[in-house]
Amino acid sequence: MRAGWFEKTGPAQDVIVVGEMNRPEPAAGEVLVRLHASGINPSDYKRRANIKMKPEFPRVVPHSDGAGVVAALGAGVTAYKVGDRVWVHSAQWARPMGTAAEYVSLPQAQVRRLPDNVSFEEGACLGIPAMTAYHAVHIAGSLKGKTVYVPGATGRVGAYAVQFAKWRGARVIASTGGGEASAKIIRDLGADLVLDRKSADLAQQILQATDQRGVDHIVEVDLPGSMGFDESILAERGAIVSFGAASAPTVAVSQTGRRARNMSLHFIFVYMLDELTFDATCNGVIAAAQEGALKHRIGGVFPLEKLADAHHHAETTSGTGHIVVTM
Ligand SMILES: NC(=O)c1ccc[n+]([C@@H]2O[C@H](COP(=O)([O-])OP(=O)(O)OC[C@H]3O[C@@H](n4cnc5c(N)ncnc54)[C@H](OP(=O)(O)O)[C@@H]3O)[C@@H](O)[C@H]2O)c1
Repeated sequence: MRAGWFEKTGPAQDVIVVGEMNRPEPAAGEVLVRLHASGINPSDYKRRANIKMKPEFPRVVPHSDGAGVVAALGAGVTAYKVGDRVWVHSAQWARPMGTAAEYVSLPQAQVRRLPDNVSFEEGACLGIPAMTAYHAVHIAGSLKGKTVYVPGATGRVGAYAVQFAKWRGARVIASTGGGEASAKIIRDLGADLVLDRKSADLAQQILQATDQRGVDHIVEVDLPGSMGFDESILAERGAIVSFGAASAPTVAVSQTGRRARNMSLHFIFVYMLDELTFDATCNGVIAAAQEGALKHRIGGVFPLEKLADAHHHAETTSGTGHIVVTM
């Protein structure tokens, strides 16, 4: 099969190779998928680019997310038949063989049905981005009638968070550092109010928009950089859900002086959800997609042969949508 891989870490153009390798065979309990699309996430290019660490395996076929059709079934798998349209998640988590290849063989729990109204390219965005957003929106209970704040709403995760929160009946306030063009994109995703994240009086604007109550739930892309701000806009009993920590490895939480005395703080690492949460998350993502509640922001499609270009593009752009590789 054709596949892309790296055997050392470094810049995409220096370390990514595309060539022939043996097609995997499905072990018992596994599903072999003929992939048509593979999604790139920050974790994929950060691991490949991190020259302080060796690759986790002698050869890594990168990427966790993908979509395609079932090509063969391992012993004991009865939930699928050859030809079924599916999406997959966590393919390269703690495994050498990800989705930047024509085939991947995965435990059946990592393989899910792809709704008919979702293309393979769109299905390759459902793993890390949609699952993280779904869990971040649902982790603190019902959102009906509540207000959710989503900074970074042009992001892969943020854009889905806006849509899941609206789907669940919340009012969504979002922000972007990308100006009016980005604000329009976020309004088109369904956000009720989009503010400038660089505005000096952003907190006052959010408090004004909530009659001084504050927001009930924050889907936070940069907790260390935003904790103080988030504390200043959170309503009593509000929840902050952190899925990213780009600016610093630690965060300072106020013991006194924040608005929400009964604040809860949640941390998400999507690869390591428990089995029930994985199931609920995947089923919820599928239900929202089937109902037509999700727009998928694809920012670029590259053929597998151009995998290095695809990585370079993904890591040098932000907020422009998903970068998908096709095969
Ligand atoms: N914990 C997990 O399981 C998990 C899962 C997925 C991703 N992540 C991590 O989450 C981060 C985002 O991933 P992604 O795929 O959504 O990235 P992305 O598509 O590049 O989006 C990041 C967005 O964040 C916004 N942004 C940048 N700096 C910000 C700041 N200081 N405050 C608020 N917003 C800011 C930008 O939007 P504007 O410029 O429009 O404001 C940008 O669109 C990455 O670090 C990734 O590794 C973690």
